[in-house]
Amino acid sequence: MSFSFSFAFTRPQAYALDVAKNQSNRQSSQLSALQGRQIIVGVCGGIAAYKVADVVSNLVQAGAGVTVCMSAQAKQFVTPLTFQTLSGQPVRDDLFNLTDASDPQHIALTEQADLLLVAPATAHLIAKVAHGLCDDIISLMICAAACPVLFAPAMNNRMWANPVTQENVAKLQALGYPFVGPESGFLACRNIGPGRLSETAQIIEKITQLLHDPAKSTTRSKSK
Ligand SMILES: Cc1cc2nc3c(=O)[nH]c(=O)nc-3n(C[C@H](O)[C@H](O)[C@H](O)COP(=O)(O)O)c2cc1C
Repeated sequence: MSFSFSFAFTRPQAYALDVAKNQSNRQSSQLSALQGRQIIVGVCGGIAAYKVADVVSNLVQAGAGVTVCMSAQAKQFVTPLTFQTLSGQPVRDDLFNLTDASDPQHIALTEQADLLLVAPATAHLIAKVAHGLCDDIISLMICAAACPVLFAPAMNNRMWANPVTQENVAKLQALGYPFVGPESGFLACRNIGPGRLSETAQIIEKITQLLHDPAKSTTRSKSK
């Protein structure tokens, strides 16, 4: 006895299959783009800090080496233990706590990195970087970075709309720093508007784009 199967898909089914295939192709090219790359993730003191744990986990699962830096305020929202566990690396959280004695100013770390992601990028951190300040581990690394620095801002909608924040963002963008988000939607302060951290998938997609084509971001390079 022999059986023969024939599959005929309706148009919507065929479309859904195509979408799934494209998605899986995109995901596998993202995975290979991240394999073996060194990413620094600077976590600032915003309520969306907890979402960045998911970003770190996804980067690690895609084969990237991830080092997390946290501002003092970030540690009010998520513990370093969470990020240390997910990244498998010690968390850098203090300028003067020499985790690595051979790299006292954390300069070598920035030289080895392929990309530095700041998420959530607070209004405060954006303002500091726009004014060349570097009195904490994240702003210091950005100042010394020899790789693309990607900002993923998240804040209250009025903080985002504040002309000073907008001026600082415009200044950084004009200098060639790429941004992802923020998105519009429901905010932790219960307002609805722009200020939500981009979804993990969008952040990862932007990272892979920049790794593929670093010229799309700041022109900083290891020799400059
Ligand atoms: C509960 C709470 C939530 C906050 N969420 C944000 C936020 O989402 N975005 C932001 O820019 N600032 C937020 N802030 C303010 C920052 O924590 C504050 O500006 C801090 O100085 C940022 O420090 P950092 O940029 O060095 O991490 C929040 C403060 C509190 C108390």
